[in-house]
Amino acid sequence: MSLSILCSLLAVSLFTSGVNAATAEQWRSRSIYQIITDRFALPAGANLNNCDVDAQTWCGGTWNTIRDNLDFVQNMGFTAIWISPVQQNYQGSRTPYGDPYHGYWIQDLTQLNDKFGTSDDLKALVAELHKRDMYIMVDVVVNNVMALNTQPDYSRYMFKDASLYHPYCPIQWGNTTSEQDCWLGDLNVTLPDLDTTNPTVVNTYQSWVKDFVQEYQIDGLRIDAAKHVNKEFWPGFCESAGVFCIGEVFGGLDVEDAAQWQGPLDSVLNFPLYSSLLQGFTIPGPANITAVTDTLTQSKKLFKDTTVLGNFLENQDVPRFASQSVDPQSMNNAMTFTFMYDGIPIVYYGQEFSFNGAGDPKNREPLWPSGYASTPASDIMTKLNQLRNFLVNTTEWATSEPQVLSSSQYGLSFVKGDVISIITNIGSPPQNGTNIAVPSPYDANTGFTELFSCKQWVAGSKGYLDAEYTLGGKPIVLVLSTLMDKSPLCKGELVTSQGLGADSSNAVQLRWSFRWPGLAAIMSLLLAFPVVW
Ligand SMILES: *[C@@H]1O[C@H](CO)[C@@H](O)[C@H](O)[C@H]1NC(C)=O
Ligand SMILES: *[C@@H]1O[C@H](CO)[C@@H](O)[C@H](O)[C@H]1NC(C)=O
Ligand SMILES: *[C@@H]1O[C@H](CO)[C@@H](O)[C@H](O)[C@H]1NC(C)=O
Ligand SMILES: *[C@@H]1O[C@H](CO)[C@@H](O)[C@H](O)[C@H]1NC(C)=O
Ligand SMILES: *[C@@H]1O[C@H](CO)[C@@H](O)[C@H](O)[C@H]1NC(C)=O
Repeated sequence: MSLSILCSLLAVSLFTSGVNAATAEQWRSRSIYQIITDRFALPAGANLNNCDVDAQTWCGGTWNTIRDNLDFVQNMGFTAIWISPVQQNYQGSRTPYGDPYHGYWIQDLTQLNDKFGTSDDLKALVAELHKRDMYIMVDVVVNNVMALNTQPDYSRYMFKDASLYHPYCPIQWGNTTSEQDCWLGDLNVTLPDLDTTNPTVVNTYQSWVKDFVQEYQIDGLRIDAAKHVNKEFWPGFCESAGVFCIGEVFGGLDVEDAAQWQGPLDSVLNFPLYSSLLQGFTIPGPANITAVTDTLTQSKKLFKDTTVLGNFLENQDVPRFASQSVDPQSMNNAMTFTFMYDGIPIVYYGQEFSFNGAGDPKNREPLWPSGYASTPASDIMTKLNQLRNFLVNTTEWATSEPQVLSSSQYGLSFVKGDVISIITNIGSPPQNGTNIAVPSPYDANTGFTELFSCKQWVAGSKGYLDAEYTLGGKPIVLVLSTLMDKSPLCKGELVTSQGLGADSSNAVQLRWSFRWPGLAAIMSLLLAFPVVW
């Protein structure tokens, strides 16, 4: 047996024995469901009406209740979850901003937050995720701890000596030194800032994160307030962690601002994309598609690797998408972008129910009143996940370079791998005469299968595809039919014509067809039910 075979056997056994330590490359093909532990699910028998977001206090979710409800997440096709911070939080009486139900008010990093469970509970959650071949990303806060004044008793924190913190100063926004050295928060809730240039702090954090990741078999870290820490701190921290690190670099459209942090960190949450999608797709809104295409051009130029950026439309700090747009189709279209372009799609719990909390604390709604039922938005994200999971498993799609094919005030189209997405901001009302013409790179008569409807499209002359919106502005995802045929999607469904511009010269031709499950599907059915009689 050659050495290389031995090595690869060893690699396989390491992988399957639960040593995860997932890298950026492994995370690239995942999709993430973001959870605030306190708000995701209640234990059986709990009072379902007992959560008032304005009260800013605990509602009762735990690591165990996440574990009990993973089917809901996995059935939507997600392959990872990101949970709110797990370490001990502020232990005192209520603050003017309520209680630390969100988990970001760190007290002692060496202890877990007993509001959310025990060490065994957290391990059981991770074990269950790994059993399902899902990853866990944990939110960590290292920039600061939490206090109620500027002279806290440091003995209760992991770092017990005042000399390991920067002296108090309020942040002067726009001054980078001040943003990194002064204290986040205000005088009601101060956030004492660690001196992350101090070698004791650097070394202690490195051994802390190494132990934490190993002890709980964490696959990735989401790093809170990453831009409030000096850049030099991150490479050593992430290397000690040994897993994918994605940082929160809170910001707007400015790509340069965000991109400088990829390098120190493996990746960042894609705030520029998020900001531009709001510009392009909210209704009413500026309908500024140029903001999106400019952001894509800048991103390609400035980010080291756009394929691992964290694409999102919502999180615990920004207003829910549905609070920013009156039309559900705008979220469906923007969401399609976050899944089908470069990057790791992230969905914040409740987005599937079009929750509409317009900012902290209203955007931290309890999930349970939804009944965990399926909705039009959850159907769309499920289909997007199913397609993306198939593509990342069987093709080089995740790393293939996307290309914008066309853009106009009504939306844009792009190709990535053998998938063309056409997204629009025109909203739900049918519009005759509004269209998006797509110069596809394929030959005339090439066949495509549309993800959401399973309808067949055929490229017109010179490969043109033409999206018309007589049924309203739904997202369109066209997969090369020869590729889609190999997937589990659109099998055995009766496919009908919807009469999209069949007459114009560059039009899509539509045909009737009945698609039989492929041989592979028939074989797997046979294998799934072995003959035992
Ligand atoms: C920026 O902030 C630092 C730290 O607080 C301070 O020392 C410095 O004077 C500030 N610079 C300017 C231009 O205000
Ligand atoms: C402290 O909180 C109260 C109540 O929310 C608020 O009115 C006040 O402005 C806050 N003070 C500071 C210094 O931010
Ligand atoms: C659209 O966004 C771009 C930023 O990419 C900006 O330069 C432009 O002024 C915006 N146009 C409108 C009409 O707001
Ligand atoms: C993708 O591959 C992983 C790992 O082999 C497997 O667990 C998963 O079921 C696959 N997913 C799809 C959609 O094929
Ligand atoms: C748009 O065209 C369709 C048929 O192509 C027609 O049924 C519908 O009434 C038209 N709607 C409007 C608003 O003109």
